Amino acid sequence: MALADHLSSPISRRGFLRQSFAFSALSALGSDLAFGHAPAASPGAHEVLMIGDWGYDDAAAQTRVAAGMTAYARKNAIHPDAFFLLGDNWYGALDGGVNSTRWKTNFEDMYSKDVYNCPAYAVLGNHDYQRFPESKVESELAYARTPGTRWTMPARWYSFEFPRKNPLITFIALDSNMPHGKPSTPNPDKPSRDFTLTPEEKDQQLAWLTTELARPRTTPYLAVIAHHPVYSNGPHGDHATLIADWDPLFRKHNVTLYLAGHDHDLQHLEFENHPTSFFLSGGGGADLYNLKTDPAHRGPYGQKVNGFSHLSVTADQLTLRHLDTDGHILHSFTKTPAGKIALS
Ligand SMILES: [Fe+2]
Repeated sequence: MALADHLSSPISRRGFLRQSFAFSALSALGSDLAFGHAPAASPGAHEVLMIGDWGYDDAAAQTRVAAGMTAYARKNAIHPDAFFLLGDNWYGALDGGVNSTRWKTNFEDMYSKDVYNCPAYAVLGNHDYQRFPESKVESELAYARTPGTRWTMPARWYSFEFPRKNPLITFIALDSNMPHGKPSTPNPDKPSRDFTLTPEEKDQQLAWLTTELARPRTTPYLAVIAHHPVYSNGPHGDHATLIADWDPLFRKHNVTLYLAGHDHDLQHLEFENHPTSFFLSGGGGADLYNLKTDPAHRGPYGQKVNGFSHLSVTADQLTLRHLDTDGHILHSFTKTPAGKIALS
């Protein structure tokens, strides 16, 4: 399907508010600026906190986001059942690989077990796909085998059900580091440290994804997590390969939610007649970039800001929130198993 076919029906925030969704009084007031004040913890809900693009060389912003997220969790008595790390887990050098001191300082201690007493499901970003000095992909896979760690990455692509008992969401974690056709060593004297999936691995993953999506499932929701966004208003824009390979499968199998990072901002995009909500959380600690497309044109939400995100899951609805480093809700919405969306 041509790229243009997918982009022909963007929904602006104002257009989104006009859609036949159920909205709060916010839409009746016509305000595009006031955002939700939903209670942070829903009774009986299962909680996920998430960050993307977080393992920056200079950890100042990462530390601020982590402190804000931890304070938010404590204040609202949120005991996450899972913590998602949406890629670009390690920028720069990971000296020592699996034995790097960064594991303790910037992961184990930064997100301490007294709050994040749960599996930390991680996917791989482009900065993880570097030999710096050795393959960070291999180091991250190896670290997941460390006894006692919460770091969870059983393979480069994998699936799991959430929560573990009486699951409500089937999650599929993917590797979005697509081969781009450029020679990996343009200068033999100075080989690039960057690499990607090989074309064969890309095909293997797509075959696995196709099979996985076709499996009978009992959960009311189906969600995919990966590093690169399929659609983004940020500087990286829309991803032609993911639109060609993955998006038709998301439509066919009614994927509820696609969680990603890569652009260093927070976003939420909806498209007419598309079952999937695209939710981007890339404000976990790296430097920020300007948005390329105004979320007033295609939205409903996008903001250049450091922050984190919170998913609450019940059988009746998902609640998704973007928050800043002070724990203020910047944007939130709910989605039912039938796909009904409400900004809250
Ligand atoms: Fe990235």
